[in-house]
Amino acid sequence: MTGSESGARLQPLQRGDVHLWQGTTCRDRGRSLDLSVLSDAERYHLDGLPLPGARALYLASHLALRRILAIYDGRPPRALRFKRAEGGKPRLVDGRGLEFNLSHSGEMWVLAVARHSAVGADIERLRNGDRSEEVARRFFAAEECSAVAGCPRHLRSEHFTQIWTMKEAYIKATGQGLALPLNSFAVSYTDSAPEVLRSAVGAVSDWTISCWAPAAGYRAAVAVHRADARVHHFSFVEEDDPAVSGSLLRKPHPVRP
Ligand SMILES: CC(C)(COP(=O)(O)OP(=O)(O)OC[C@H]1O[C@@H](n2cnc3c(N)ncnc32)[C@H](O)[C@@H]1OP(=O)(O)O)[C@@H](O)C(=O)NCCC(=O)NCCS
Repeated sequence: MTGSESGARLQPLQRGDVHLWQGTTCRDRGRSLDLSVLSDAERYHLDGLPLPGARALYLASHLALRRILAIYDGRPPRALRFKRAEGGKPRLVDGRGLEFNLSHSGEMWVLAVARHSAVGADIERLRNGDRSEEVARRFFAAEECSAVAGCPRHLRSEHFTQIWTMKEAYIKATGQGLALPLNSFAVSYTDSAPEVLRSAVGAVSDWTISCWAPAAGYRAAVAVHRADARVHHFSFVEEDDPAVSGSLLRKPHPVRP
């Protein structure tokens, strides 16, 4: 696969665009996959994962990560090298402004890709049981706790999870991870206009935040350090050749709080 072959099936990634890719481990179960594109560090990490499900998800997401980034970068997937920035965020070596962030949960992964704008992505599988208010009190800013508490009980867990993904996407975009106090910024979730209410990095208006449901039972968010970023959704399909198939997703229905 070359970058131009696959890239021709996608719209170009312009400054201000964010391409959101999503995929699943399910199709890959039991198939023999070519691990040679992974680095020694990735194979070492994979070997250390104790649970088969976690191994399958790590493998699927990192094979996809390399194949997708190669489309935009132009180098072959195995030639891509990664380094960790201060704070732990993975970056491409010689990435020339190509920014990305990966997240995985359950049996799904999402990957955000942008040019010259810091991005963070997060996906979470909805959990049974509702400890939302208790966990919110522990981690969320006051505005966010009030929003969760004010939500009708049957929607509370979804609302909580969506705010969680937004907060996580934000801290991952900044690259600071949990060094950034979680109550030093606040977000607000509505299906039509999710927003950063208080920012710890730059002005509130410098941020674009977007939420979606990648599949039933999952919630996800992306945060971009840029005003008015344009978000496009794609699915990743592992084909037998194997090649990347980029297909524009029907815009997922927003999640109603
Ligand atoms: C990176 C971090 C911020 C998120 O981790 P997570 O939610 O467990 O996992 P995700 O699947 O969303 O993200 C993991 C991926 O993010 C990337 N990543 C790792 N460190 C990162 C950092 N400091 N900044 C941005 N991205 C990072 C990696 O690509 C990693 O995937 P990989 O290990 O397969 O390469 C993690 O350090 C963490 O500690 N999270 C704490 C969760 C929490 O308390 N959140 C509160 C939200 S209210």
